[in-house]
Amino acid sequence: MKQSVFILGSFVVDLTAKAAWLPTEGETIKGNYFKIGPGGKGANQAVAAVRAGADVQLMTKIGQDLFSPVAIDSFTQESLMSNLVLIDKNNPTGIALIMVSEDGANQILVVPGASACITEDDLLCAKQAISTSRIFLTQLEVNIDAVEKAIDVAYTNQVEVILNPAPAQPVRDDLYNKIDYITPNETETKLLTGYDVADLDGCHLAAKYFFDRGVKNVLITLGGLGVYVNNREMFSLIPAMSVHVVDTTGAGDAFNGAFAASLDAGEDVFAAALFANVAAGLSVQSFGTAPAMPYRRDIVKALKEWNVRPDLQVFNS
Ligand code: RIB
Repeated sequence: MKQSVFILGSFVVDLTAKAAWLPTEGETIKGNYFKIGPGGKGANQAVAAVRAGADVQLMTKIGQDLFSPVAIDSFTQESLMSNLVLIDKNNPTGIALIMVSEDGANQILVVPGASACITEDDLLCAKQAISTSRIFLTQLEVNIDAVEKAIDVAYTNQVEVILNPAPAQPVRDDLYNKIDYITPNETETKLLTGYDVADLDGCHLAAKYFFDRGVKNVLITLGGLGVYVNNREMFSLIPAMSVHVVDTTGAGDAFNGAFAASLDAGEDVFAAALFANVAAGLSVQSFGTAPAMPYRRDIVKALKEWNVRPDLQVFNS
């Protein structure tokens, strides 16, 4: 059986500053820490999937400028460097301005730069690699036409598709029936479906919205409340681990990368979500995004120690 994860997504350099609280509009406050490091949802998820044990191919695009070495160093270290890391001579490497407060909350402004310039020709070169993968994972931080075309290739070749619809933006209705797993957070769910997911009823309504359009499995990440998982027949609400939160930036990426790795290893949606939920819980305990992604041995250990087996309940749709 073919086994590997193909990820199409962004690389950006994270410029992260920490302060006691987040400034409001028009306010200047003093911070107490600053760091430059690798980020971008696609690259973060790729690092998370590699560290969670998967064989991963990452397709992304960076510029040729002072930030490109940050990408190349990180990809080399994580065994993600390949000819699918494209260099754009005309557009800059993407960046994200991130502010993190003492309690771990964040605000992010991302400029995807070269990552949003993936062309049809680029995708043609990746067609073979996508179609021979087992899992295809993407987000909405690269240009949407590239996302749509790559999903088409995956779907046509019976590769399982995970869409992490982040950052939030509307997607074409006809994309949904090509998606095996959709993984929005609360705000993305609200933007895509119109439903608040503050309670279980809201989660069920949002899941029904996706199911009615053809999505096969819905996983709504609920931050400190955990993750709602529904495969049309059964649902589960997996609680978040209770941890000391340092920085929540990239927790969704930890979840998605580890989830893809676990599915690729043959787990079902509920077991994979449980594994991914623990990965996210570990990632928020250190500062940064890609560097904070946990390794498989740590996820497995935490999963054993945590010892939570959430109930599966039958969903009456
Ligand atoms: O999901 C977190 C990521 O979103 C950060 O690394 C930042 O680059 C933004 O793209």
